[in-house]
Amino acid sequence: MSEVHIIDHPLIQHKLTLLRMEETGPKEFRELTDEVSTLLAYEVTRELPVQEVKIETPLQKTTARMMSGKKLAVVPILRAGLGMLDGILKLIPTARVGHIGLYRDPETLKPVEYYCKLPPDVNERELIVVDPMLATGGSAAAALDFIKKKNPLNIRFMCLVAAPEGVDKLQQEHPDVDIYTAAVDDRLNEKAYILPGLGDAGDRLYGTR
Ligand code: PRP
Ligand code: URA
Repeated sequence: MSEVHIIDHPLIQHKLTLLRMEETGPKEFRELTDEVSTLLAYEVTRELPVQEVKIETPLQKTTARMMSGKKLAVVPILRAGLGMLDGILKLIPTARVGHIGLYRDPETLKPVEYYCKLPPDVNERELIVVDPMLATGGSAAAALDFIKKKNPLNIRFMCLVAAPEGVDKLQQEHPDVDIYTAAVDDRLNEKAYILPGLGDAGDRLYGTR
């Protein structure tokens, strides 16, 4: 069974509360999403391997640790996942970026795929798949099904808010994918929105409706 990491750092919780507030407009919503994504990326990358390297400080030779050149890629689920991308790349600027386009059909609530472009050497990379919302889990599970056909080394899933229903689905269908989230909320409403949630993340990021 995969692990669910709820990152309850005070800075993340404070910024998430601002994201939840109805009066937070698109500009501030984008900035906060960016900031929270950077903070979450700090935790998502915690287990990455480091290696000893020989260096010289201004005073003496020493050995110190650096990341061991592990190949990473960040894959935002379009469109709302894009709002998290730059915040993550601030910490891991050399990561490659893939894109997968899915939207939830408003009638059936099922994910519909419309775009996929991944780095060609995805089978040599560890992936961080990102989407602000894990609601029914349909979009994330479908994205992971598709991405796994390209045989990445490992996948982590990162979101801002998850519903218990989405966590259950992802753990059942993708037990090898750890989940990193700032919150697991109460439940879904009848339209599969997360309660209390933060509303429609894509619409709030981009000012659409
Ligand atoms: C939202 C969100 C997830 C999905 C979550 O995207 O960004 O991708 O819904 O719901 P699920 O877990 O029930 O699948 P949406 O379909 O609204 O598309 P958008 O990113 O283009 O706004
Ligand atoms: N997608 C969103 O953007 N918000 C939700 O609450 C559920 C799905």
